[in-house]
This record gives sequence, C-alpha cells and structure tokens, in this order.
Amino acid sequence: MSYQPKRKIIIDTDPGVDDAFAIVTALKYQGFEVVGITTVAGNKGLDYVTKNALKLVGLLNADCMVYQGAHAALKDLDKPVDQSKDAGNTHGFDGLGGIKLPYDLSRLSEQSAVDYILATVEQYPNEVEIMALGPLTNIALAIQTEPELMKKVKTIWSMGGGVYRGNVTPVAEFNYWFDAESAQITYSIGQDVDIYMFGLDVTYQTYFTANDFFFIKQEGGELGRHFYDMVQDYADSYWKNRRITGAVIHDLVPVIYAIDPTISNPEDVYHCAVSVSCEPGLVHGQTVVDLVDRHNYLKNSYVVINADDRKFKEVFMEIVFGEVADLYKKYVVS
Ligand code: RIB
Ligand code: CA
Repeated sequence: MSYQPKRKIIIDTDPGVDDAFAIVTALKYQGFEVVGITTVAGNKGLDYVTKNALKLVGLLNADCMVYQGAHAALKDLDKPVDQSKDAGNTHGFDGLGGIKLPYDLSRLSEQSAVDYILATVEQYPNEVEIMALGPLTNIALAIQTEPELMKKVKTIWSMGGGVYRGNVTPVAEFNYWFDAESAQITYSIGQDVDIYMFGLDVTYQTYFTANDFFFIKQEGGELGRHFYDMVQDYADSYWKNRRITGAVIHDLVPVIYAIDPTISNPEDVYHCAVSVSCEPGLVHGQTVVDLVDRHNYLKNSYVVINADDRKFKEVFMEIVFGEVADLYKKYVVS
C-alpha cells in the first residue's frame, strides 16, 4: 500500500462521556494525526470540559495540546455564565462520570481555541479536518474572525441536529440547541467546506448495549474499565429517560464514519440544504433538512441518516482494543 500521510485532525469538543469515546478513538487511530483538541462549553462548563480533555490526553499520553474555547453560546458570551443550559448530570457531576484521572496543566496551551484553529488552517490549508463534537461556538467565532481562511478547512464532521427528531426538545438536538446561531453560521460556509451532519437519526441507530459495555469492561483492560466506569451515570440517564439498556455514544459516529464511511450506504448520505432555526421558543435549534430537494435550496451539507450499528461497533473495538475485537465479533450479541 502506498504511503498515506496522516490526516490532520482538530477535535472541538465538550467532554462529555460520548466525546471521551470519540476522542480516545481518534487518538488511537493510526491514520489520524490529532494536531490539537479545542474545548467548548456544552455538556458542562468550560472549566470541567477543559479539565476532562486534559484527563483524556493524559490517559492516552497523547502529544497534542488542549486549547480552551468559548465559555458560553455566541449570544451569551458577554453575559454571566448560565449553567442551567448545560447537560446537568447526564454525563456525571463532572462530565466524565466522576472517574478519577490525573491531568497535567502543562498540556493546556495559552493560545485560545479560535486562534489555534485559525493558525492551524493557515499553516495547513485544505488539509485540516475538524471533528466538531459539541456546540459550534468556536467554529462560528473562527468564521466570524476570518471567513475566507475558514473556507480552507477540508472537512467539518459535526455531531448535531436531527432530521426527524430532537433530544433536548422534541425537534432540537443539544449541540445545535445550545448554540443555534453558531450552528447556522457554520453551515453558511457549507458550499466551500464539506460539512457532514450526523444527527440523532443515525446516532440512535448505533447505541451501545449493556452487552457491549460488559464486553468493554471484561476485555478492554484499564482503558475498558475507565470507559465502563465513566459511562454508568450516562447509561442510568438512558434507562430512566429513554428505557434504553445501554447508551448512545453520539460523538463516536462522525469519528468512525470519517475512518470507515462504509458503515453507511451511499444512499444514506444526502447532499442537501440544512438550516438551523434561531427563532426563540418551540423550534429553537431545530435543523430543517431538505431531503426532498424540490426547492433548489443551496446544498451546504452531507447528512448521514443511517449506519450499520454492528459494523460501527466492530470498527471501534478494532481501533481501540485491537485483537480482542475478534472475541467481540465471535461472542457478543449487541
Ligand atoms: O445531543 C448529543 C450531543 O450533545 C453530544 O455531542 C453530547 O456529547 C452532547 O454534547
Ligand atoms: Ca459532545
């Protein structure tokens, strides 16, 4: 096989248990060079999510730095922080299920997330792929600051939205609801930058079951035990609120698809127009996705609406746990 340079990845994230699965996978995948991790308020406040990113960098002994980003949604940046908008204790009191992990502040850069994103895109034009796993505030701020430069991002892989459903409201998904304005600004560059939207339609198809977590604990070694411990509160919320025996690892879907797009069939990926409602009230944060394509709206996104959950999980197990994935394939019924 001819030499393939590693793909340059910036992970923009609000860890977050599902973010943690995604971050670990991206750091372990040999085809990625995670050049930096930028944090954004979302699941928890900026202090928690930044500390959690540092914990994960330390756990994997990754050589990338962490860059602190927006402490609130775009429209709230100049207001006192309103923590009532975060995900509460869905991801545990600290956003990582309360697991005890050290973190090294020397891995925290003094450069802001937005400045880092812009500097990296300028250094590597048309090469940088952004894994956007939280509210899109940092991305929107970068676009507002240098709109032409941000058009040189190669791909934005965004977990967010939903064609037919919401989670934080009946029609809105948390990341895009938390900062709808930033989501709309991000999709405004969708004719210049390939933006892939992974909404709740596809993420709910891929949820990890109790069997999957049992296997991760039994065969995943120390990392597997950390995953199992951190997911307990998160899985509790899925049983209590959704009667799901397991949990949806939303943010892992864009990472696995970016690695192996064959988890979805080509006909499950729609090149279409996406718009995010910024109206206050009932429809705030709703993604309006034009799958019917009868109105000649400008196409600004690739919306992935289906994935093979078994293949998705097997790719994850192979990348993160190596050979024990064979035991998963042979013995674990999802
Ligand atoms: O709605 C799911 C998304 O919101 C995920 O990114 C999760 O981590 C939370 O940020
Ligand atoms: Ca997230």
